[in-house]
Amino acid sequence: MSGELREKVALVTGAGRGIGRAIAIALAGAGARVAVADVHLAKFQGERYYRISKRVSGEEEDVATVDAVRAIGVRATAVEFDVADETAVRDAVGAITSDLGPIDILVNNAGIVNNIATVADMTRAAWDRELAVNLSGGFSCVQATAPAMAERGWGRIVNIASIAAERPSAFQPAYAASKAGVIALTKAVAKTYAAQGVTCNAILPGLIGTPLVRSMRAEVQEAILRQVPAARLGEPREIAAVAAFLASPAAAYVNGVALPVDGGFLTGAPE
Ligand SMILES: NC(=O)c1ccc[n+]([C@@H]2O[C@H](COP(=O)([O-])OP(=O)(O)OC[C@H]3O[C@@H](n4cnc5c(N)ncnc54)[C@H](O)[C@@H]3O)[C@@H](O)[C@H]2O)c1
Repeated sequence: MSGELREKVALVTGAGRGIGRAIAIALAGAGARVAVADVHLAKFQGERYYRISKRVSGEEEDVATVDAVRAIGVRATAVEFDVADETAVRDAVGAITSDLGPIDILVNNAGIVNNIATVADMTRAAWDRELAVNLSGGFSCVQATAPAMAERGWGRIVNIASIAAERPSAFQPAYAASKAGVIALTKAVAKTYAAQGVTCNAILPGLIGTPLVRSMRAEVQEAILRQVPAARLGEPREIAAVAAFLASPAAAYVNGVALPVDGGFLTGAPE
């Protein structure tokens, strides 16, 4: 444990699995106390997801994130709530504050990634739900935590957007719109609290090899990789390392950026 974030309290949403899980572990590795939040934490303890995860990633994900974090030697708490439910967000922030202390670091990572349909086929309900989770969920978490960070004169907000904000797929219009909204929200929040020691930045992950992505058919993965100059998927820990940097004291003067971590994807397809 490097200890750079010792005494800090972090809330990571969508931390039950995938990128959020890796971020929770990275922040714990830097010494932070971590609130591991997800909509259905129990879902990630022992069922199908773990079987896929073990088979394809080699990473031991059959331990719940909160236990993996505690094993690093920091305090942790597991909180189950839907980020789209504003009241539940406020209640959860209150419970985390009582349990671990005031929140210094917020990572808005929870997201719906599997709403696949063109504009012609997408229902309005599916559109609304995706915006409610991916965009408004982050807004509620910022609103519930940032004013207190500003009062204490220190805070870090890291929003997980996506390369889809800049190169949308025809099959994920709500996803792209929500992530573009996340980038704009990031810049607005950065300006709001910049003079009070609170930064807000966005990461735009490229194609990341979470266990679910790695369980896709080989030909689908190959088609994806043809678009990536690095010629490989990214790893959740590569997003987590950047999130941990943006959450660190060293990143105090980095504010309002939308940082691709994508193996060069946004430069265009390989020559
Ligand atoms: N995997 C990729 O290639 C990739 C690329 C770009 C961006 N991202 C972004 O990274 C983030 C994490 O993605 P992932 O690939 O790890 O996905 P994932 O589906 O493995 O994990 C997302 C997590 O968010 C949780 N979640 C979903 N809805 C929620 C809600 N309403 N309230 C609370 N938690 C909720 C899920 O339960 C899950 O644990 C997402 O915001 C996603 O858009 C992922």
